[in-house]
Amino acid sequence: MIKLVYMTAKELREKFLDFFVQKGHKIIPSASLIPEHDPTVLFTTAGMHPLVPYLLGEKHPQGQRLTSVQKCIRTGDIDDVGDAVHHTFFEMLGNWSLGDYFKKEAIEWSFEFLTKELKLSLDRLAFSVFIGNNDVSRDEESMSIWKALGISEKRIAVLPESDNWWGPAGQTGPCGPDTEMFYWSDDNDPAPEIFDPNDKRWVEIWNDVFMEYNKTVEANFEPLKQKNVDTGMGLERTVAVLNGLNDNYKTELFWPIIEKIEELSGKKYNSPHLSFNIRGGEDQENPPQPSFKKEGVELSDDTRAMRIIADHIKAATFILAEGLEPSNVERGYVLRRLIRRAVRYGKQLGIKDIFTFKVAQVVIEMYRDVYPELLKSREFIEEQLVREEEKFAKTLEKGLKQFEMQISKIKNQNDNLKLKIIPAEVVFDLYQTYGFPFEMTAELARESGLEVKKEDFEEELKKHQELSRAGAEQKFKGGLADNSEATIKYHTAAHLMLAALRQVLGEHVSQKGSNITVERLRFDFSHQEKMTPEQIKEVENLVNQKIQEDLLVKMEELGLEEAKEQGAMGVFNSKYGEKVKVYTISENGKIFSKEICGGPHVERTGRLGRFKIVKEESASAGTRRIKAILE
Ligand code: SER
Repeated sequence: MIKLVYMTAKELREKFLDFFVQKGHKIIPSASLIPEHDPTVLFTTAGMHPLVPYLLGEKHPQGQRLTSVQKCIRTGDIDDVGDAVHHTFFEMLGNWSLGDYFKKEAIEWSFEFLTKELKLSLDRLAFSVFIGNNDVSRDEESMSIWKALGISEKRIAVLPESDNWWGPAGQTGPCGPDTEMFYWSDDNDPAPEIFDPNDKRWVEIWNDVFMEYNKTVEANFEPLKQKNVDTGMGLERTVAVLNGLNDNYKTELFWPIIEKIEELSGKKYNSPHLSFNIRGGEDQENPPQPSFKKEGVELSDDTRAMRIIADHIKAATFILAEGLEPSNVERGYVLRRLIRRAVRYGKQLGIKDIFTFKVAQVVIEMYRDVYPELLKSREFIEEQLVREEEKFAKTLEKGLKQFEMQISKIKNQNDNLKLKIIPAEVVFDLYQTYGFPFEMTAELARESGLEVKKEDFEEELKKHQELSRAGAEQKFKGGLADNSEATIKYHTAAHLMLAALRQVLGEHVSQKGSNITVERLRFDFSHQEKMTPEQIKEVENLVNQKIQEDLLVKMEELGLEEAKEQGAMGVFNSKYGEKVKVYTISENGKIFSKEICGGPHVERTGRLGRFKIVKEESASAGTRRIKAILE
């Protein structure tokens, strides 16, 4: 019988982990998509994120050799989603040496896994190593290790930083040169003797990073205390090539979602990508698959739309499972963009009803065994998708009409202008009145040969925020006018409490208001349900723990953009370029709270005394109110 699937994702995950366990590694579970140890990024983008402190030298409880399958979100490539290989959500297989083995073992094991375990033919493999720069020399060592394994020099490209330097993932942290592994994914032509990294038929499947450096805030590269290895293999791509597919959406990791979208839209997925026969017909046990070859088929708008929906709703499902809700800031905004973009493409496919939750149901079924958190949050995920889609569906059509009207006006007006720009007021109106994320308008504009300017939109946004918040600001300032010692303490307690609420209830919690007197703190925050007595206790305990730890409260003045990038909480309503005060409560580089705030604050949390929540009640729909005291 012809075996249609050579290796499933489940088999590949297991094979990878088993292989590295045999090499003395301990398996660590996938960490949350919200990075705990790196405040400079919104999401976990690689398997190394949860390991940042250990790459920097802290001892890991499981030892120096680790392996994992990590769920990741990368939004940098969001505009590329729609091609065959880019995704916002993906899984990364990885192995780490924390100051243990280095280049030789890492490369030899990668080679062994690819050729012996996955049985990939050497003839279809190529590699790249780092060319060197002013600080770090050319990676001759990796080059000789590959050559000693029998790789021809013609199949090893020597490339600059843009290709062969990895990290840091955020703005600071561990990084270093890497060596990458590529697989030839085409049958029309045999793999060329000389590796050309620009030929897209070479698919990058694995990356071994030699993390020897720490990038500091001043952008210096300091040698790390220890030499680490950080590797990452893309699960979706590798499953695709292992099964002779060069369209990831045809693998089991996407196909059921695509089928659902076909059913909902009545349209057909028509991949222009060819399948190929990786075994060359020699493998009797695993004879070649039937080919899906389709010469000359272009990627249709419908197929691209299906890919975007499949990718975005999968990513949104995983983000929602972290307890996040769509909003206009930070992670919530990424989530909103993913959902709304999928809804827009659903409309383009002619889907009439509310549909994203149905797509999510398929995702949950596909991944429930590997990521049980999806099943646990099923109701929340579906409810949030329905809510967000309903909200957006109401205005989408009208907004698109408005957009059409505006662009025909612009096109008619400036006929002799080459580059046509949509005015910021129009972009803002689409955002404010019709709920179009800026990026969606930018995409629609591109499709019509027009442009939008991000800076102008941001200016416009700030103008409006300033107007609408001016009143609230006054009140807020009033509340802080009394700078007695007691109110200063309450003010710091408010920061600790916000951070604690976000840890206990989730990242959707943001401050809606606060009022401080010498006797108590009143604090409003976004959250739907009544807090349980356990949650109240947990928040109280966490705040008291941070008081006992006597953490340092540090103030620094940063540009607004910089503060935002560093993940500071707060109301971003200052003028562009203006400096803001940022208060960080941390110890030994572990940040507990970071907020933009006028202050003043105590210098160490130990001065606060004992924190107690005396009341938790509703303030308005979706907003809870806490009254708390310091004893
Ligand atoms: N951190 C590296 C990457 O993301 C290897 O895991 O490619």
